[in-house]
Amino acid sequence: MKPIEIFKKAKDGKYAIGQFNVSTDEQIKAIVEVAKDLNSSIIIGTSESEREFIGTKQANALVDIWQKETGLPIILNADHCKSFESAKEAVDIGYSGINIDASSLSFEENIKLTKQVVDYAKAKNPDIVVEGELGYLRGSSEIHKEKIEIKEEDLTDPEQAKEFVERTGIDSLAVVIGNTHGIEAGKEPHLFLDRLKKIQKAVPDAFLVLHGGSKTPEEDIKQAIKLGIMKININTELRIAYSDALEKEIKAHPDEVKPYKILAPAVEETKKIVEEKIKLFGSGGKA
Ligand code: G3H
Ligand code: ZN
Repeated sequence: MKPIEIFKKAKDGKYAIGQFNVSTDEQIKAIVEVAKDLNSSIIIGTSESEREFIGTKQANALVDIWQKETGLPIILNADHCKSFESAKEAVDIGYSGINIDASSLSFEENIKLTKQVVDYAKAKNPDIVVEGELGYLRGSSEIHKEKIEIKEEDLTDPEQAKEFVERTGIDSLAVVIGNTHGIEAGKEPHLFLDRLKKIQKAVPDAFLVLHGGSKTPEEDIKQAIKLGIMKININTELRIAYSDALEKEIKAHPDEVKPYKILAPAVEETKKIVEEKIKLFGSGGKA
């Protein structure tokens, strides 16, 4: 199935596809194995730093092999590309999704760079899915000790969203509706669902994307999907599951030297998170 069709199916079917971020081979293996068991489409995401570690070509080749072996609809998304060059590299290598994140620039500059990426990507691969971002998404995919204050002006403005989608030609729009990257100690981030409703009305044809999905309360996720969110990005929860399991394993078996034994619990814990999210997002059984 073509990437655009995978997205369309989710939008029409009112479920969300999880984007699970990775920087290692065994994380891909864990995610794909769960998706296979649950018969779910999935998106593998790699940020610029994650790509730098695993290798952009290598990530593409690995996902390609898994896709062929399982027959699952799997999209590989270049997450948070900050420049045209970064997006171009992923397009040229064969990624099926691109997230151009020019949201830190002015509205006009964001439109200009996002459109440049859309034009390039679509000319090279008409089936590719291109995602733009509008609004100020605070945080990063890690544990934050201090509280992240969300301001009204951070949120995606529905009128601007309409203009942004029209002028850039993006397929998907990443929105800021109270979500943040990472996990704040002791706090569950709540979504401003009224804002989401207004955005959905303004851009009814766009695929709506929620970044910063880690630890978002289940009820908020369910409501957001009802209101049109069809792609949800998860990273921090996976990172914590992996690193906690690894630390525990090394402490428990300090003499173990076989990587496939040391890493096995990290793979298992990653799988638990992916399973929980696929079930919550409603994409199981729909691949
Ligand atoms: O692009 C990746 C995500 O937005 C992940 O956010 O680390 O809060 O789950 P998270
Ligand atoms: Zn993100």
